[in-house]
Amino acid sequence: METTPDSVAILYQQLKDELNQHNHRYYVLDDPSVPDSEYDRQLRKLSEIEGRYEGLITDDSPSQRVGGIALESFSQIKHAVPMLSLDNAFNDVELQEFERKVKDRLNYSTSDKSQQIEYACEPKLDGAAVSLLYKKGSLVYGATRGDGSVGEDITANVRTIKSVPLKLQGDNIPELLEVRGEIYLPRAGFDRLNAAAISAGEKTFVNPRNAAAGSLRQLDSKITASRPLEMCAYSVGQYKSDIKPETHKGMLEALGGWGFKINPFVEALAGIAACEDYYQRMVEQRDQLPYDIDGIVYKVNSLKLQNRLGFVAKAPRWAIARKFPAQEEMTRLLDVEFQVGRTGAITPVARLEPVFVGGVTVSNATLHNRDEIDRLGLRIGDMVIIRRAGDVIPQIAKVVVEKRPLEARLIEFPIRCPVCQSSVQRAEGEAVARCSGGLFCGAQIKEAIKHFASRKAMDIDGLGDKLVELLVDKSVIFSVADLYELQPTQLVDLERMAEKSATNLIAAIDASKETTLAKFLYALGVREVGEATAQTLANNFGSMEPITQASVEVLLEIDDVGPIVAKHIVNFFRNPDNLSIISALREAGVHWPDIDLSSQASQPLRGQTWVITGGMETISRAEAKDRLQDLGAKVASSVSAKTTQVVAGPGAGSKLSKALALEIAVMDEAQFVVFLADQTY
Ligand code: IVH
Repeated sequence: METTPDSVAILYQQLKDELNQHNHRYYVLDDPSVPDSEYDRQLRKLSEIEGRYEGLITDDSPSQRVGGIALESFSQIKHAVPMLSLDNAFNDVELQEFERKVKDRLNYSTSDKSQQIEYACEPKLDGAAVSLLYKKGSLVYGATRGDGSVGEDITANVRTIKSVPLKLQGDNIPELLEVRGEIYLPRAGFDRLNAAAISAGEKTFVNPRNAAAGSLRQLDSKITASRPLEMCAYSVGQYKSDIKPETHKGMLEALGGWGFKINPFVEALAGIAACEDYYQRMVEQRDQLPYDIDGIVYKVNSLKLQNRLGFVAKAPRWAIARKFPAQEEMTRLLDVEFQVGRTGAITPVARLEPVFVGGVTVSNATLHNRDEIDRLGLRIGDMVIIRRAGDVIPQIAKVVVEKRPLEARLIEFPIRCPVCQSSVQRAEGEAVARCSGGLFCGAQIKEAIKHFASRKAMDIDGLGDKLVELLVDKSVIFSVADLYELQPTQLVDLERMAEKSATNLIAAIDASKETTLAKFLYALGVREVGEATAQTLANNFGSMEPITQASVEVLLEIDDVGPIVAKHIVNFFRNPDNLSIISALREAGVHWPDIDLSSQASQPLRGQTWVITGGMETISRAEAKDRLQDLGAKVASSVSAKTTQVVAGPGAGSKLSKALALEIAVMDEAQFVVFLADQTY
């Protein structure tokens, strides 16, 4: 083998250190220091050196995170310090009971307020426990919990997880350090994994915890490497070091300094009442977190007191898990109904025996489409597992086949629309079945009118969903154009409508006549044309006529318009019913200013992409967005290399960091307001 010149060895070490630093900033601190392109460039340079001088490659090289040769089986690892589990408290009384026992054992007074116990409060991550052993700062092995005394050697798999340091950083690195923590799959990664499984026709995971545990138990570490797992440290097993933190929180801070990810919500609080308050605060945040948590862990913060308290059987006396309401529950599928949407899409909806899950009572769940029903193997009468995590709508995660009753029935998908009886069609390659009734279908008419009246479309105040349904059911209106012919007397004749509300509604309908081209286009409800596409069309064509006449080829020339949207736009404007509705609306007085395309001055931001992040104090976000769009800019929700300018208000977070890392121009709110004022012609 070629010998390596010293200069290459030095460069190699520098590159490794730098890449490990970038990894740490990106995966542990969520705060990237360089753009992805720079990281990739350095990684390529590293691979080049490694390709040429194989003898240099070390285990802590960032190139060694991709997974290696598949194993035959896992070997066992005996835990020098047992991996304990936690006792649970399901309510405040059980938590207070825990504190009473702690105080009793420590001979603390239960009434004297000066004798408060301090607790480290932290979210209980819902993943799989792991033990990582480091000797002189290098990762030696990773092991599962197993039965608490013997686990499986999953070193090859943990090495692929980017937030697991391969080599510790910082000062005072311990001689021996065994870190305990949770390996978990953030919700976004879980959704991606399941979406990929669905399109490959494979089984999906019930929840992120099962997906994380399953990913860790792969004999082929390349599979683990493909799963976006993360690792967060929460305690220490074996430990030999000159650094001796006095508290659990202090120990976590030391771990953070050595390169581990530590949960940002850890707080040290005195007394159990403050802990209950922490629980309430976390319950409120739970849905917004990017990962699942199933409770709060309270740990006596002083390590000395932890030692005095010791263990019982398999759990420490100094810690307890206060569990949240479950995010998964079992219930019975009572029936499946079929709903018809604005575009005729027929969505099966599960009617369930009501069940309390994820903090709310759930009695319906969407089943998406026919494939989903087939994939789940669902029958009416089945016991099913309902999952409601985050803000998302409840899902049926699994059928409990063992509990299937004898009378369970197959689900029949309708061949006729349940509302208008037109035939149901499913286009080739599409998962969604649709009613072919178009505007003959009462359900589609109702949904089209609701969309037309909605805030971001024609913004008709007072025309809520229930009222639209009533107006269509009573045959008062048949299309959006009929709204502008409505008379107060027709409204007053309807149930529940007082004269004052009727006059207000007519006034709101009248006011909606003055609109913008983009809002009108969006209100029409062309398939796949959302707010942003409507704005792009308006900016590019300036007025309605050329849009109604544009061919697929012309539409495809516009940035952000793909072949599917282009086809929907052309189909929509070829339909004479749609054209006659548009002319009826214009005859009724709906109008908007055309955009003068010849004057570049009116669109100085054309071709630019702006991102607004953080709060705004002097201007509403909606208004800021409108103004930017009027000036021709596209307003996007995430920062990328394509972003032209970021407006960062107070409280801006990761989008601002990303913009700075990508060296994208940033202005604050005050600068933005001045900028807008300068644009007034
Ligand atoms: S401390 C001796 N802290 O919950 C202390 N555990 O039900 C043992 N878990 O097996 C654990 N987040 O996998 C601790 N912040 C946290 C945790 C946590 C999740 C898991 C851990 C453990 C299980 C116990």
